Amino acid sequence: SQYKVAVIVGSLRKDSFNRKLAHAIERMAPEGFSFEEIAIDALPLYNQDADGNEVEAVKRFRAQIAAADALLFVTPEYNRSISGVLKNALDQGSRPYGQSVWGGKPGAVLGVSVGAIGTALAQQHLRNILAYLDVPLLGQPEMFIQAKDGLFNDDGSIGEGSREFLQGWLHRYVEWVKKHAV
Ligand code: FNR
Repeated sequence: SQYKVAVIVGSLRKDSFNRKLAHAIERMAPEGFSFEEIAIDALPLYNQDADGNEVEAVKRFRAQIAAADALLFVTPEYNRSISGVLKNALDQGSRPYGQSVWGGKPGAVLGVSVGAIGTALAQQHLRNILAYLDVPLLGQPEMFIQAKDGLFNDDGSIGEGSREFLQGWLHRYVEWVKKHAV
């Protein structure tokens, strides 16, 4: 069977390193897996007053997540946490109460930043949120990536120096999804 992975990128920036990383991973998808980025840039700021009366962009986003077998979060680090736009997307998917689209879908967290700790603190915050949202999260290997020259090749693929590490991570992720997808 085909596993559909919803990829959520926590940056709206056009030349986002995190989006580049997400797309590079999409290109490495093994047989039986498809990775698709689910856009979060059209989502309005979450407002509990809109529960049950969501605008089209929210309905579409929720439907896309609901249709996925697994999740992959690629997060930047903003002020030692996740970005506001990513938190907003998580909140939009979590409500109305009792109708969260996140629960039970196996997931993983990774990220790239210009700082040396490579989104470690953002990822830790994100893991906290996803634990509450009942997303079974891959624990290892962790992926804290610092944006450096050579991380990506000109064609958008992963550079030589990081390729093997990423391939190893992807192998573990794929096994995780197969084990936990319902
Ligand atoms: C940052 N950046 C950053 N980097 C980091 O390692 N730790 C941090 O806490 C922060 N904080 C932070 C706050 C805000 C508001 C911005 C705009 C940026 C730098 C960040 O890693 C860099 O902008 C990345 O390029 C963001 O990821 P994308 O957009 O390239 O995917």
